[in-house]
Amino acid sequence: MGRIAIVTGGTRGIGAAISRHLKDGGYVVAATYRGNESSANAFRVETGIGVYKWDVGDYAACEAGVRGIEKDLGGPAEILVNNAGITRDAMLHKMAPSQWNEVIATDLSSCFNMCRVVIGSMRERGFGRIVNISSINGQKGQVGQTNYAAAKAGILGFTKALALETASKGITVNAVAPGYIATDMVAAVPKEVLVKIEAQIPIGRLGQADEIARVVKFLVSDEARFITGSTVTVNGGQYMA
Ligand code: CAA
Repeated sequence: MGRIAIVTGGTRGIGAAISRHLKDGGYVVAATYRGNESSANAFRVETGIGVYKWDVGDYAACEAGVRGIEKDLGGPAEILVNNAGITRDAMLHKMAPSQWNEVIATDLSSCFNMCRVVIGSMRERGFGRIVNISSINGQKGQVGQTNYAAAKAGILGFTKALALETASKGITVNAVAPGYIATDMVAAVPKEVLVKIEAQIPIGRLGQADEIARVVKFLVSDEARFITGSTVTVNGGQYMA
């Protein structure tokens, strides 16, 4: 049996592409989602990948959810991709505390929650692959995204610290920082703003979810064993970190 991989937010957008690529690579994949029942079901039917519903911002839910997956799939998760993320864009002077808290919980605290739950068995087995999905906007900042930029920048520090803690245990921890990728999240950016952003991408187009998924697939492979604590930037040249 292939290694068990959990992809959070794994039924739509970049996460769905990651789930598909890992399945194609022989991994046994579990994809989590929070709310969009109909697309999760459609994804399950189309791909045959198991889908699991919980809020990754909730520690107890992560613990119960991961244990459920491990029971269903017959072993511990050896691969974890922390992909789940939301935006609640607003200028700081208009941002409600709930917009700050929701983004920090879903995009950043989720990484702690999920890693904390899987790290014990990875340490015991002497193997693990963790990939955290950050963002260009965590690297360079973005108007309207103090919450999201803080969470995505936080992921980079989290990744490096955990990589140091686990390097001697056969576990690698890396981040991928996508630029603007053609997903529902980017489609929600006001059209007049998106036109300006697209003009700043030297490659001249939005990225594709598959272009992120291929990087993740490499980072979780055995071949990537000497890469840890890295941030792989995939943004069409928009920001050279
Ligand atoms: N750079 C510089 N200034 C900007 C700007 C930008 N990118 N965007 C807006 N502004 C300025 C405006 O020109 C305006 O300035 P003035 O007050 O001097 O006229 C000011 O900021 C406020 O603009 P708005 O009147 O449009 O304010 P708003 O409250 O209606 O909306 C906003 C502001 C929420 C930031 C809106 O412009 C927006 O949604 N922008 C898109 C933000 C974005 O790129 N989000 C990324 C989502 S996708 C994603 O996050 C995935 C990923 O990882 C890449």
